[in-house]
Amino acid sequence: MIVTHLELQDFRSYPSTVLDFAPETNIVIGANGSGKTNLVEAIYYLSLGKSWRTNDTSALIRRGASFALVRADVREEELHRLIEILITPQGRKISLNGKPIRRLSELSCLVNVVLFAPEDTGIFKGSPSERRNFLDISLSKQSLDYFSLIGKYNRLLQERNAALKSQEPDKTYLEVLTDQLIEVSEPIAHYRGIYIDELNRVLSPVTSRLYGNQRVAALQYRPFIKNPDFKAAAKKAYHRAFESDLYHKVTSVGIHREDFSLLLEGKDVAVYGSQGENRLASIALKLTPYFLIENPAKKPIAVLDDIYSELDAFHAERLSELIQSLGQVFVTTTEATIPGAATIDVAMHHATRRIEKNGR
Ligand SMILES: Nc1ncnc2c1ncn2[C@@H]1O[C@H](COP(=O)(O)OP(=O)(O)O)[C@@H](O)[C@H]1O
Ligand SMILES: [Mg+2]
Repeated sequence: MIVTHLELQDFRSYPSTVLDFAPETNIVIGANGSGKTNLVEAIYYLSLGKSWRTNDTSALIRRGASFALVRADVREEELHRLIEILITPQGRKISLNGKPIRRLSELSCLVNVVLFAPEDTGIFKGSPSERRNFLDISLSKQSLDYFSLIGKYNRLLQERNAALKSQEPDKTYLEVLTDQLIEVSEPIAHYRGIYIDELNRVLSPVTSRLYGNQRVAALQYRPFIKNPDFKAAAKKAYHRAFESDLYHKVTSVGIHREDFSLLLEGKDVAVYGSQGENRLASIALKLTPYFLIENPAKKPIAVLDDIYSELDAFHAERLSELIQSLGQVFVTTTEATIPGAATIDVAMHHATRRIEKNGR
């Protein structure tokens, strides 16, 4: 799928902008603070109705304005879709071809974006929640069933934590919630295990392309339950943790504590890898979901924010080669990097103007 046309009104720093995009690589160029990330954030917003930078919708509205509007034409082969998102401080309203969309899951089926953001460079060294987020977001885009399971799990977990925090915790109620948690945990863990295996099929080839030579990279999943009898083992784990959970007033075990690491040539990259190796490994990880989708019409749009910073010339070259093999890509950068790609100069777009294609 590709975004062919984008209109922004009072979104972040953009008062009113109209843009047309190339179906392949689009370089978003500009000095620091000129609005590059703001622009790709709008594209990302189309896929999740959410920004990776903030949960506060007011931050997305241009200072002084009362609402923001993101309007985009998205093409998937012969299908043309007009997606409009109205953002107000209270939330957002999404419509497809003029008709309101009620479920966010519908949106992520229409527009799929894989994102690499500067914060991701430390994904293996960072907190486990960042890695789980990656799993949950990528899997939710792939499977509506996972999307609803993880939503259900999070609601049950909140209820259980609230029950643990009450003055006199109701043990019977806690037991019911625990059983329900176990019930939804099993398929979630199953999905995660399969997905990690799928990612592993493409991770080494992608990592090798970025490195410019053969590299073996493998994710190692650390599941909550290893025992094939998931339910019995999970029940035991919750039982063992029960007194401590009551004392700490929080659910200390479960699939919300799962994690994974990356072994590069058999060594944990978070422990043994250099800064640069962690950066390349993070880029590889964030791009792998792209390669798992086989139908070319369903290939996601890649948004790569500040992906070149701190890469040496050799690896920047490898990255450019890899980028050119993707479908539609948006790359933000302070200097032109890929010859022949369409360029969007953001400074010019704080006034209305259309893009031109350089060369080709
Ligand atoms: N809601 C907003 N209203 C007006 N300006 C904003 C808003 N949010 C961010 N900005 C401005 O956008 C600029 C940062 O843009 P950004 O896209 O992050 O820059 P970069 O080109 O470095 O990626 C800052 O000057 C910031 O003040
Ligand atoms: Mg930026």
